Amino acid sequence: MKKKIKVGVLVSGGGSNLQAIIDAVERQEIDAEIAFVGSDNPGAFGLERAKLHNIPAFAVDYREILRQFKQDPLKAALPDDFNHNDILAKQSLFRGNADPVRVDTFIKTRAIGEARLLQNMDRYSFDLLVLAGFMRNLTPYFIDHVNADRMSPRIMNIHPALLPAFAGTDGYGDTFRYGCKIAGCTVHFIDYGEDSGPIIAQRAFAIGDDDTLDAVKKKGLDLEWRVYPQCIQMFAENRLQVLKKTIELPGGKTAERKIVKILPAMNG
Ligand code: GAR
Repeated sequence: MKKKIKVGVLVSGGGSNLQAIIDAVERQEIDAEIAFVGSDNPGAFGLERAKLHNIPAFAVDYREILRQFKQDPLKAALPDDFNHNDILAKQSLFRGNADPVRVDTFIKTRAIGEARLLQNMDRYSFDLLVLAGFMRNLTPYFIDHVNADRMSPRIMNIHPALLPAFAGTDGYGDTFRYGCKIAGCTVHFIDYGEDSGPIIAQRAFAIGDDDTLDAVKKKGLDLEWRVYPQCIQMFAENRLQVLKKTIELPGGKTAERKIVKILPAMNG
């Protein structure tokens, strides 16, 4: 029997991707076990799915944190190791012209929520953290706590579009409304931006002229449920290597390309 990795999962809603991972674990298709399921939303159905499979589950109510903060920002209990300037300097979710009050509220409320997530997660050991329909951008505060080494990231996300097109909260909807002929999903490691970070796998499918948005979502989710466990398995087999490559451009300029190299599978 191969060694199994421990996977933590964060969800915000229905958790059909979580279910696909649970099924792959239970069918022993992947060398993984689920250590916990966490959520930013106490009402997430994904938490029920976890309980049905005897997986420890917890929620941190992000909405309540935001409500309390807006009521009385001075009472906010920020984590001891909170460093506003460090988070602001590292993140690439906001540009320089963003409303400073909005940015300040975001950074503080997220740090409070993320510190509580981390406190819950600290009760379990895990090798990989998988975002399965987790609809909150994570800040450098959280990411740096989980990733000890920037070149060995261990937070994976699945996004319902062919990134870098259509980042955000409605990938299939945005792809469909734009009139694209091809849609798809992307699994990537997360970095300090929104739906950015080195790409591990992408799967594409055609959008027919008569397809509805529901049909597109269904085709996309079917692919998500297959590709996500495959990526977890490649991580378990230690086959994902993040590489930085420098490319020469005309005029003596250079550009940097970050890729996830997939190493060949070992036999046996
Ligand atoms: C999935 O389509 C996933 O790709 C998407 O949310 C859905 C969650 O479904 N994630 C994002 O948009 C993240 N930016 P699920 O809860 O049934 O797995």
